[in-house]
Amino acid sequence: MRSNSRKRFWFCGNWKLHKSVAESVALATTLREHLSATLLGSHDVVVAPSTIALAPVAHCLHGSGIQLAAQDVFLAHQGAWTGQTSAIHAHEVGCRYALIGHSERRQTGDTEDDVAGKVRAALQAGLFPVLCLGETAEQHRASKSFDHLAQQLHNAFAGLAPQAVTTCLVAYEPLWAIGTGLPASPEWAQQVHAFLRKQLETWGTMVAESLRIVYGGSVTHHHVKKLMEQPDVDGALIGGAALTAHSFGDVINEAIS
Ligand code: PGA
Repeated sequence: MRSNSRKRFWFCGNWKLHKSVAESVALATTLREHLSATLLGSHDVVVAPSTIALAPVAHCLHGSGIQLAAQDVFLAHQGAWTGQTSAIHAHEVGCRYALIGHSERRQTGDTEDDVAGKVRAALQAGLFPVLCLGETAEQHRASKSFDHLAQQLHNAFAGLAPQAVTTCLVAYEPLWAIGTGLPASPEWAQQVHAFLRKQLETWGTMVAESLRIVYGGSVTHHHVKKLMEQPDVDGALIGGAALTAHSFGDVINEAIS
């Protein structure tokens, strides 16, 4: 049984396309002022601004201990790919992580093969991939959650060496919970996370034990504590509640209280 005491949680605010560049810098500045050095030394706090805001936000957060994630990166590193974001460029401007396969990217065209390629591209660029996966409401109702999640996990990591998989994170984000105000119950999140961890034994028990599996989908300060108390929940990917420094801070403080 995994222990929750002394767990280093991973919290990421996914700003999606909600903030202008100026607003992103302003929010990063406020977070920098308000999040304590003790908190940032004990847990990982990450923000994921829009691609165009990455460089200015990186500049603003430099030396703060708050880390940066790209919301997506492309399969190829360079070439004739109009409009894409290179994982190498994301790394170059200061990103440590890249969200890969977020359901909002999958809904706008990312296939399972794209997701697998993006995981590899991120790894090659020296980024830590955060593989997002989750089932739809229909799959959930039809009791197909576990089959779907296993398929997404294995497709994304197939053929990767254990050393590569161990640098990734997995974010379980059920589509029926994202932006709905109705998060998964702590019991359901635990059941799914434990299942995913079992699946990760494909890459060895060390990988399965150490890889961080975070939950996303309508996380607020009301629900976060019980979710984070689950032994297999290692953090949260937070959308709506990360859009102000106040609510993001509330979620984190409640989680670690
Ligand atoms: P939400 O978004 O917290 O607003 O549900 C989470 C996400 O999409 O990553």
